[in-house]
Amino acid sequence: MPRLLVTGGCSLAGTVKISGAKNSAVAIIPAALLTEAPVRIENLPEIDDIQVLVDILTYLGVRVVWETPSTLFIDASKLTKWQAPYDLVKKLRASYYLLGALLGRFQKAEVPVPGGCDLGPRPIDQHIKGFVSLGAKVDTEHGIVKLEADRLVGAEVYLDVVSVGATINIMLAAVRAEGRTVIENAAKEPEIVDVANFLNAMGAKIRGAGTDVIRITGVKELGPVNHCVIPDRIEAGTYMIAAAAAQGNVLLTDVIPKHLDPIIAKLREMNITVDVQDDQLRVIGVEQPQAVDIKTFPYPGFPTDMQSLAMVLLTQAEGSSIITENVFEGRFKHVDELKRMGARIKVEGRTAIVDGRTLLTGAPVRATDLRAGAAFIIAGLIAQGETIISDIGHIYRGYERVCEKLTALGAKIVEIE
Ligand code: EPZ
Repeated sequence: MPRLLVTGGCSLAGTVKISGAKNSAVAIIPAALLTEAPVRIENLPEIDDIQVLVDILTYLGVRVVWETPSTLFIDASKLTKWQAPYDLVKKLRASYYLLGALLGRFQKAEVPVPGGCDLGPRPIDQHIKGFVSLGAKVDTEHGIVKLEADRLVGAEVYLDVVSVGATINIMLAAVRAEGRTVIENAAKEPEIVDVANFLNAMGAKIRGAGTDVIRITGVKELGPVNHCVIPDRIEAGTYMIAAAAAQGNVLLTDVIPKHLDPIIAKLREMNITVDVQDDQLRVIGVEQPQAVDIKTFPYPGFPTDMQSLAMVLLTQAEGSSIITENVFEGRFKHVDELKRMGARIKVEGRTAIVDGRTLLTGAPVRATDLRAGAAFIIAGLIAQGETIISDIGHIYRGYERVCEKLTALGAKIVEIE
């Protein structure tokens, strides 16, 4: 299996272009199944998750053509299958969006849903609650979720949990339902707004995306669309933290600063310089970042996806920092690996106490999830000696050309067998 070899002690300088948002793209591609008209999606990130989705759509009988490495043409007019293939679906966490898309298109769907992963349990009860409210009957057997509805009728859905996936999935099922749907306690992530803009460009009637109340008026059919995916705020946050941790000076281009507000605010609280200019921002690291407390929350709170990355940076701050993970239980799997690199971290339930400043030393570590993998790369960049990261498939699922982009900034990182 390939691994990443990261050599420590380097600083980062230069420019990095941020790619399209993974968590927008993995919802927009299934959403294309809701129309029989041609769809073109630009600024897609070149990551494994997207290729898996392309393979699934092709399996379902959809014509999918890569017009450029980041532009996809989709023609779902010949789509006839509503059963998604297990061997492809199991590779993709976000395959649950196929439930909402196929239900919205055919009033039925059969999608195997992968179990929990390294963030702890990943239930989809709120997704199911929404589908049932719209009139679907649910049957789960052999790990396959089967949905069927005579007709989909708009309904009021009050989410028990602020859930990105449930908010988007219910939107997908509701855009062609009869009548009005209201999603209360909806998630407000920028990716949700991007999916809503994509659907509205196809002729859907969605209002309020980005707030906690989303109103949808069902339409009979949807038309063609050309859409450009928003920049990936978590990829951007990753390079911001890498620059800060390596005491570097890095310019990020193709970003939407507004989406980065919680990350910018926290870095500035740590005395790290962040200069914002239109769709670019520069991060300049400091010798002695300030220890701070971080609480993860749904957007616009500090993103849970940035938690492991921020933890690495906080090992370089003088004093104690408290990180509280309020979104996923079990999202501290990366702590043990960081402690093997010399980090001083104490976990108590949903709280981790990071004592800095510690000199990290290179060690062999295993990526437990996408963002933990990225955190280990950053730890390897600033550690003394060499770090070898295994299970890097997680990283390639969500980061486009990560070795190339980091090498261009001066990092010493190579893939080894
Ligand atoms: C999305 O996952 C992202 N993935 C995650 O990013 C991100 O960490 C998460 O949102 C939170 O921002 C994609 O967009 C593909 P949730 P999602 O539903 O939608 C609980 C990455 O690294 N919950 O907002 O699955 C759930 O257990 C990934 O890119 C229920 O209880 O997350 C969690 O505690 C990792 N029932 C909380 O809600 C449900 O039906 C938030 O989960 C759904 C969720």
